[in-house]
Amino acid sequence: MSRPSYQLFDRDSTAIVYGLQAKAIQRMLDFDTACRREKPSVVAIVNPGRSGNHKVFFGTKEILLDIYPDVASACAANPETDVMINFASYRSAYPSTMEALEQKQLRTLVIIAEGVPERRARHLRHLSREKGVNIIGPATVGGIKAGCFRIANTGGTIENITNSKLHRPGSVGFVSKSGGMSNESYNVIAQMTDGVNEGIAIGGDAFPCSTLLDHLLRYEANPDIKMMVALGEVGGEEEYKIAEAIQSGQIKKPVVAWVTGTALGYLPQGVQFGHAGAKADAERETAPAKNKALREAGAIVPESYNDYGKVIKETFDKLVADGYTPIPDVEAATVPIDYNEAVAMNLVRRGSNFISTICDDSKDELLYAGHKISKVISENYSLGDVISLLWFKQRLPKFATQFIEIVVKLTADHGPAVSGAHNAIVTARAGRDLMSAVASGMLTIGPRFGGAVAGSAVMFNEAVTNGWTPEEFIKIKKKQNINIQGIGHRIKSLRNPDARVELLKAYAFENFPKYPLLEYALKVEQLTTKKKDTLILNVDGAIGALSVDMMYACDFSQEEVQAVIDSGGLNGLFLLGRTIGMIGHYMDQKRLKAPLYRHPWDDILYMLPEGE
Ligand code: ACO
Ligand code: LMR
Repeated sequence: MSRPSYQLFDRDSTAIVYGLQAKAIQRMLDFDTACRREKPSVVAIVNPGRSGNHKVFFGTKEILLDIYPDVASACAANPETDVMINFASYRSAYPSTMEALEQKQLRTLVIIAEGVPERRARHLRHLSREKGVNIIGPATVGGIKAGCFRIANTGGTIENITNSKLHRPGSVGFVSKSGGMSNESYNVIAQMTDGVNEGIAIGGDAFPCSTLLDHLLRYEANPDIKMMVALGEVGGEEEYKIAEAIQSGQIKKPVVAWVTGTALGYLPQGVQFGHAGAKADAERETAPAKNKALREAGAIVPESYNDYGKVIKETFDKLVADGYTPIPDVEAATVPIDYNEAVAMNLVRRGSNFISTICDDSKDELLYAGHKISKVISENYSLGDVISLLWFKQRLPKFATQFIEIVVKLTADHGPAVSGAHNAIVTARAGRDLMSAVASGMLTIGPRFGGAVAGSAVMFNEAVTNGWTPEEFIKIKKKQNINIQGIGHRIKSLRNPDARVELLKAYAFENFPKYPLLEYALKVEQLTTKKKDTLILNVDGAIGALSVDMMYACDFSQEEVQAVIDSGGLNGLFLLGRTIGMIGHYMDQKRLKAPLYRHPWDDILYMLPEGE
């Protein structure tokens, strides 16, 4: 990418970032969006010894930036890129910059680290001149080419960027040692002129790799820049070189200059300000001495920093009076903000896709229907309590929670011969995992086995609600040609009663305030068992009828009861219980190291069509 030597950056500039600096990279790309750049200004990340990619936003679009283990591979993949922003620590800033200096395509290097040893900094400064590579820093926040390219975090928030008109080029070239003072100055320049064209903070170290004068000379050569603003600092002799350049005519454009640190004169000798280089070892290095020399050389130097903005404006107004046409303002493009940030700022809201009224894990402590988990444990809630909270959104009375627990205990298993256990066993013996074995067993739970809890609640409740006598009910179901859910068993009968049903009935008679549906179901059983001994009220039917009785006894409204019945949720009682047994069968088979199951031929009746 050929660019005039005075131009470090333009709208096509792209950078490699050394160090996985997600926030700084995103800020650069958001600046690109504000400027309406066609392509992202960051193309690659070097994370020593690592590779992969890093997801960022370019506007609202998500893009992946490749991560490279070293500078050479990042450059090889991005031959057009000529900038590297180096976030390496002060310990590795030197070797990583040396690595970058080996890449001829890199014309501009930025060293962010503070604390780079002076000897190293001076060597890099020598190499930058020897190789003709621009190095900004060390100890810099970087700089900005308004409307084109932002180095890392320069300029602060995107609001400050746009308030300082940095999203589009102005006509003022700015240079300083300090990043903070740069941001402040961008704002002042934006108010007093048509804005910054380029701003560079060279860093506060005693031996920066590029000097204030280096950048002012670039601005002198840049036809888009009509005036310059330089903010010097106590310490060093740099500002005298600027004075000489103005005096010799090397710099002809107006230069507004100020050297900060005038207060140092009121402090004891040798006091150092923030920057490593900000201390005056001699009178020449004080701010008043340097401001005087700049003023005498022809720079525009205000009487105090308070007049800084005023003289910038006066200087710009003179340019306009001499025929310069200020660059018009341009509206910055909207920069999207991250969703979480927007939520935190109450800027966005979004309808939820889910509603949970039973459990909340988003607060400091897990809540079951409003009950803190710590309370559930400390107050020794029963399993029935927890089920009633999560299924019925309330802590039901003790008779009800005990009923729930009894159901879970009674339905936990009914031997390996039943379909759920059978499938779980066969699946376990096929070498499948626990989840597959339990899922396989679960899939047999339905209208004939275990899944008649819900069905029986529907049917018995329907019969009672419709006022059908048990005889009418049986006739109606017979006519519909459907089996009454909750009636019948493969092996249990009047002569061989199901102890589980007897236990449930005994518990209800003892503890339920009333049980009308059970009573109805038992009348049905008296009729069906006249037809066949096995057409008893089975365990599903007893659970289904008593679940409805339980809800009414807990003052559920008819609508609430109907909603639970219609949901099929009552099958959950059998499902919850029987899962215990299916897990047991799985573990049992694994313990036994049981081999793959194959059904015996002699238990299969083969009735094939006559062969050809
Ligand atoms: N309602 C009305 N009639 C029935 C019922 C019933 N629930 N169950 C069987 N019959 C009738 C049949 O229609 C058949 O009549 P027919 O001789 O006039 O044709 C006769 O009784 C025998 O039917 P089978 O299906 O052979 O009886 P089986 O003993 O095999 O059925 C079963 C047992 C599957 C449980 C059956 O009774 C049924 O489907 N019940 C409803 C579903 C149910 O409640 N399942 C839960 C069982 S318990 C548990 O799984 C934990
Ligand atoms: C069970 O609980 O599995 C049974 O009632 C079904 C059966 O056939 O034993």
